[in-house]
Amino acid sequence: MKDIVLSGIRSTGNLHLGNYYGALSKFVKIQDTCDCNFFIADLHALTTNPDPQQLHANVKSILAEYLAAGLDPEKSTIFVQSDIPEIAEMYLLLNMHVGIGELMRTASFKDKARKALGLGSPEAGDGDDDAIERQIIGTDSNRRVNAGLLTYPTLMAVDILIQKATKVPVGKDQLQHLELTRRFARRFNSFYGVDLFPEPTDFDFGGAPVKVPGLDGSGKMGKSEGNCIYLIDDPKVLRKKVMRAVTDEGPKEPNSPMSEPVANLFTLLELTSTPDVVSHFRQAYADCSIRYGDLKKQLAEDILAVTTPIRERVQDILADESYLARVVRQGAEKARARASQTLREMREIMGIRPL
Ligand code: TYM
Repeated sequence: MKDIVLSGIRSTGNLHLGNYYGALSKFVKIQDTCDCNFFIADLHALTTNPDPQQLHANVKSILAEYLAAGLDPEKSTIFVQSDIPEIAEMYLLLNMHVGIGELMRTASFKDKARKALGLGSPEAGDGDDDAIERQIIGTDSNRRVNAGLLTYPTLMAVDILIQKATKVPVGKDQLQHLELTRRFARRFNSFYGVDLFPEPTDFDFGGAPVKVPGLDGSGKMGKSEGNCIYLIDDPKVLRKKVMRAVTDEGPKEPNSPMSEPVANLFTLLELTSTPDVVSHFRQAYADCSIRYGDLKKQLAEDILAVTTPIRERVQDILADESYLARVVRQGAEKARARASQTLREMREIMGIRPL
């Protein structure tokens, strides 16, 4: 039996290199061999209370970027999360088996809750984790963390389990959510003594989990970090971003260890350039002859070689509204067929039956 693959991206803005290497480029690779299902997670995007017009525009632009990057609606089921109402019902049902403690402990919740409250991060020395947790549930602030943010992992588990997916290609930052999904699946199966949900795993491409760094010297590339290279960045803008990336003063002695910002540039180079180019600059770093300006120029051109064909296709695809609508209508039909079957089984198991 073919693996059922499922993955999605939140509609919070244009796609960046992190989304591309962590997710989208992998989606394209496996379309021919698996039963593939890729969606736009607009309900997940609601957790940060976006502007409604913007949310709607983002769904469209991500769909266009999916297609421009090579997702093929004849091979993959491509759909919008909110077109599958069964997901919302299953979210309610599954939440009855999810603990608020385990949700509060997820790294992404703490991170997003901190941002929502305008708090610093413990890594930056702004208070320890426990203190921040107390502030999240505390009442001494008129800002609040919405419940949707807390139950985000339930919703993500539902996306996966409602399709009975077995493989979930994601970047490193989503692996904790996937672990929770496995736990929820196991718990449901064992509570009711059934074998309804398979336990999904990351799609194994043979390498380490992907974490694309930002250009600001630390951490990962992320929309809310303001450190992104977008697939649709104009070449001028893209070159400027890369040339401005944080570096250091350069190696003073042969074979010195690399600082984080420079190591990050090498990570990006490894993703986008040929092995020859990478080893040329590694050697130059080792013998102290490296000029970061040269490395950045090369990096910018190699990134452009990846993004340019995508950027050039996006505008045409976006202009064809009826095509976009057709793709997601057809996708929703297929995704709903499986979702409604799973929901029927789940209701029956839980005792929600017609009289
Ligand atoms: P999201 O929208 O934050 O990111 C979408 C995908 O891009 C990957 N990604 C990265 N990978 C490597 N390096 C980075 N800097 C980087 N930034 C983003 C993410 O790992 C992800 O694969 N909760 C999910 C969306 C989701 C989902 C699902 C995914 C909802 N339901 C079901 C899979 C299955 C999210 O917020 O991803």
